[in-house]
Amino acid sequence: MSVYSRLEAAPPDPILGVTEAYSADPSPDKVNLGVGIYLDETGQIPLLECVEAVEEELTARKRPRGYLPIDGMASFNRAVQVLVFGADSPAVTSGRVATVQSLAGTGALRVGAGLLALSSPGRTVLLSAPSWENHRLLFSRARFQIARYRYYDPVTRGVDHRGLIEDLSAAEPGTIVVLHACCHNPTGCDLTEVDWSQVIEVVQARGLVPFLDFAYQGFSRGVEPDRYGVDALVRVGVPFLVANSFSKNFSLYGERIGAIHFVTGSAAEAAIVDSQAKTVVRSLYSNPATQGAAIVSMILNSPARRAKWEAELRAMRHRIIDMRHAFRAGLAAAGVEEDLSYITSQTGMFSYSGLSIEQMRRLRSEFHVYGLDSGRLCMAALNPGNIERVVEAVGRVMVPA
Ligand code: LMR
Repeated sequence: MSVYSRLEAAPPDPILGVTEAYSADPSPDKVNLGVGIYLDETGQIPLLECVEAVEEELTARKRPRGYLPIDGMASFNRAVQVLVFGADSPAVTSGRVATVQSLAGTGALRVGAGLLALSSPGRTVLLSAPSWENHRLLFSRARFQIARYRYYDPVTRGVDHRGLIEDLSAAEPGTIVVLHACCHNPTGCDLTEVDWSQVIEVVQARGLVPFLDFAYQGFSRGVEPDRYGVDALVRVGVPFLVANSFSKNFSLYGERIGAIHFVTGSAAEAAIVDSQAKTVVRSLYSNPATQGAAIVSMILNSPARRAKWEAELRAMRHRIIDMRHAFRAGLAAAGVEEDLSYITSQTGMFSYSGLSIEQMRRLRSEFHVYGLDSGRLCMAALNPGNIERVVEAVGRVMVPA
């Protein structure tokens, strides 16, 4: 008997498995709208100019590659705290935030889950219905029970405001609630300021633990406005966690760079949490990688480079918005009669199309257009060279023959 004989083959990953299928497709017309990666107008993953410039400096310096501290590069962690919370945030100025460099957003979520498994084992993690596909796997592997709160209303194609509040109000005290800080993945429907204040009221009344997934800072309204939910939680003084990522907003997907932030009640508590988070990191991968942290730190710690980065990020955000408008106009011109305003009102990289799994499979098999089975389509992968093909394909599956 092999040590592996009890295992059955796992199904392909619902997101990265689509890229595998796409890569295996020999069609020259194929388009990958599955994974959340921003591609420029030529269909390439951009190397941001601000990143290229600091990489040249880093190469010229010929740095030796020693180990980073377990919780990461100090200059990176400080700069990221300021980015995520703001320099004047009372959480930052009082030293109540423990920040740990992570392997991008997934690593941040996983280290956060590992710390919560130490501090609060056996609790339930509430995920939005729907949520990013990997949330369920990640929190269940960290031995949490998973439940869902209502979030998306397919009729209004927006947030189910009442269902959300009802479900959070019914949660047991201590329940961990995963909220998307902005650019909700997969729906693109974000909480309004009124929603945030209602959610926070329930969080306080029920003693819930918010865990914010902040993978898309800067892709909704801008770097600062996108942290509205973070600021609102800091204002009421509850403990919470934030997982942030630089995969998308620095176009550093393969560098695996991000951070987990534990907002605690005091600087003394933050020190304890940091020490325990280090045990989580040490047991998982010992300590983090250097290159991504060096790049982000050098950009965020220089006002001129940071301004350049924000300009490049703004350009990515606006290009996606332009593609949303072109996609919507194209579908209308192709004879799709339903209300398509959701395409331009949803925010971030994705459009939650409402297409059925059969329609999504047809898009793949007949038109070589790859999206997720959930109906999620990545607007950030559209460009002038592929939009006509995509519009034609989506139009054909939407309009009855
Ligand atoms: C996505 O949602 O497509 C991205 O966050 C990539 C991933 O790791 O799933």
